[in-house]
Amino acid sequence: MYKVTLIPGDGIGPEVAAAMVKVVESTGVDIEWEKVDAGAGVIDEYGTPLPEHVIDAIKRNKIAIKGPVTTPVGKGFKSVNVTLRQTLDLYVNLRPVKSFKGIKSRYEDIDLVIVRENTEGLYSGIEHKIGDYGAETIKIITKPACERICEFAFNYAKDNNRKKVTGVHKANIMKLSDGLFLNTFRDIASKYPDIKSDDLIVDAACMNLVINPEKYDVMVMPNLYGDIVSDLCSGLVGGLGMIPGANIGKDYAVFEAVHGSAPDIAGKNIANPTAIIQSSVMMLRYLGEQEAAAKIENALVKVFEKGENLTGDLGGNATTDEFTNEILKYI
Ligand code: NAI
Ligand code: MG
Repeated sequence: MYKVTLIPGDGIGPEVAAAMVKVVESTGVDIEWEKVDAGAGVIDEYGTPLPEHVIDAIKRNKIAIKGPVTTPVGKGFKSVNVTLRQTLDLYVNLRPVKSFKGIKSRYEDIDLVIVRENTEGLYSGIEHKIGDYGAETIKIITKPACERICEFAFNYAKDNNRKKVTGVHKANIMKLSDGLFLNTFRDIASKYPDIKSDDLIVDAACMNLVINPEKYDVMVMPNLYGDIVSDLCSGLVGGLGMIPGANIGKDYAVFEAVHGSAPDIAGKNIANPTAIIQSSVMMLRYLGEQEAAAKIENALVKVFEKGENLTGDLGGNATTDEFTNEILKYI
């Protein structure tokens, strides 16, 4: 029996999280969910969107899965997601981007993985105003953080039979910070002679990903670029409702969908739960539950191939529940 911290989140979070729990439970894996709440909805009660007991619950169970969490802007709260990643030292943000047959998209055979540095860069959280005149946000790049994220990317490539790792940067402009990232990337690459490597400036990477996404395999990059590039990549395979994510550190792992709380469709039972369901597949693999993971993955393949009972973002008109039942049918 596993104990997993479940953070449903706000907006469509509770809807997609409930769908995910049903799907995971249908595989027969024995999980006890410890549900805790974070986000905009708990501020009145706790005075913060990320109460201490939420962090304690993740530390206790070591594994969590979460829906999107909203941090109100301009109220003085630090982003819940960024705080979780920094507090628990979840230094890897892993986002696999893979096409499903049957999902309408410009491309058919996308299979790439974004490895995003998750603890520093422009998301250091260090910022201040300069009177009324301006503001500064400090971008931090350190050698140990570059080393461990690049090592992770190459090890991931090795363990998952991937052929190439591309380092993405803007070292032509940010010569010191991104220069350190790029040099470290090249150093680490030289320790993995069996895996091809190249590097690319982030703006060119965006263009190339839109024109020739099949040329990429594993891509590793600093925090902000990873956030943006992974959303771009979600658009190559059917949108934000599709792609999963995992925040991984030495001691803890927090699995989550990449999308936000989608206030425009929240509470209507029409959100696509695929992203968090695919995150649960990553979680099951992390736990060593390969069979259960494969069951869910195969069911998704069949549902999309058949193309019935899809949610609105995928061109269908099914509710979240109808789509979820379709998956359960194949499990
Ligand atoms: P969003 O991802 O919530 O929505 C962007 C668009 O994609 C919307 O049109 C939405 O309806 C659609 N969409 C997203 N997920 C979908 C799904 N599963 N099924 C169907 N359609 C889906 O991004 P937005 O609007 O910029 O952000 C809303 C809130 O979410 C903000 O407060 C933001 O801070 C928060 N957020 C939280 C994240 C997290 O917890 N990991 C990540 C990104 C944003
Ligand atoms: Mg994002």
